[in-house]
Amino acid sequence: MSKSPKTRSTKPNRTVSIIGTGSYVPERILTNAELEKMVETSDEWITSRTGIRERRIAAEGEHTSHMAAKAAQNAMEQAGVTAEEIDLIIIGTITPDTFTPATACHVQRILGAKNAACFDISAACSGFLYAVEIAQQFIANHTYNTVLVIGADKLSSIIDWQDRNTCVLFGDGAGAAVLRYRARSHGVITTFMASDGNYGDILHVPGGGCAMPTTPENAGQKLNTLKMNGRETFKQAVLSMGAAATAALAQAGLTADDLTCIIPHQANMRIIESLADRLKIPIEKFHVNLDRYGNTSAAAVAIALDEANREGRFKVGDYILLVVFGGGLTYASSVIQW
Ligand SMILES: CC(C)(COP(=O)(O)OP(=O)(O)OC[C@H]1O[C@@H](n2cnc3c(N)ncnc32)[C@H](O)[C@@H]1OP(=O)(O)O)[C@@H](O)C(=O)NCCC(=O)NCCS
Repeated sequence: MSKSPKTRSTKPNRTVSIIGTGSYVPERILTNAELEKMVETSDEWITSRTGIRERRIAAEGEHTSHMAAKAAQNAMEQAGVTAEEIDLIIIGTITPDTFTPATACHVQRILGAKNAACFDISAACSGFLYAVEIAQQFIANHTYNTVLVIGADKLSSIIDWQDRNTCVLFGDGAGAAVLRYRARSHGVITTFMASDGNYGDILHVPGGGCAMPTTPENAGQKLNTLKMNGRETFKQAVLSMGAAATAALAQAGLTADDLTCIIPHQANMRIIESLADRLKIPIEKFHVNLDRYGNTSAAAVAIALDEANREGRFKVGDYILLVVFGGGLTYASSVIQW
């Protein structure tokens, strides 16, 4: 597939700003040394191939909604927004607490956001940026004023802990942002989204849905865990994120030199380095935390955004670029003037 998706004019007709960010990771740290005792791997292999040193694992009984609500509370606190003020909650997740209700409804209950409409979207690791785009559309079109967007995943619940190809890569966590209309203010300049269903099987959970329900006969085959073709996923990640970033910058009428900070999906340090090469952006401009959290799926870019924001990596008026890739395939990028 040629990764030159169509660009489109998405300059919002109403300024949509991120007015607060938040994140949460579970307390339990799983190190590479501990993984050495679980599967045939080594700290040296994991670190040199991925850059990951440790990841967080949710506690027994700690669900995606619990992590999402904690990240949301942090974002709402920073934004100075009460639960009653939230018009809409969108969660990007592939590890919902339950098939139904949506995880967003569970979070609504925990937060007491009684005035919000709630739904989840399924776009794997791209879920947070897909949700930002949806939120932006609702706000730009005057449907809602205040939207809570969350990326949250408990990947540990769909990992085969005997599969060394996947179990070393992922972790649990949540990140959130409050988006709101703000007159004459900086905000989301553009968001670009794309998908390619032809590559669905390079990163997928084959079972557990209606196509292949879990039965007593197939239960031992772990069909409801994540399967991955690592090399192809690596290749598509670099191509897709490169295309998404280029498209978002073109839509925004900016070049890579205009960017102060790039917040990429946190899957693999080598993917981020290849992306930096491709976009000709110095690696120092990329915010990276995958060494501490691994790949937290939809949460990854949201946690990194919150971390970079709280560290003061950019100031009001700076241009930042978020860029993601995930199962589906899905990919997306957003240019934001902070
Ligand atoms: C998974 C990944 C780290 C593997 O790195 P790689 O350099 O491509 O490694 P290869 O695929 O060449 O595999 C090399 C060998 O290491 C082995 N290997 C795989 N996982 C291992 C592990 N945890 N420890 C030790 N060896 C491992 C493989 O079995 C393979 O052995 P073989 O040559 O005997 O078959 C890399 O392909 C990757 O990051 N892909 C993208 C994954 C991703 O980002 N997924 C989420 C996207 S949202």
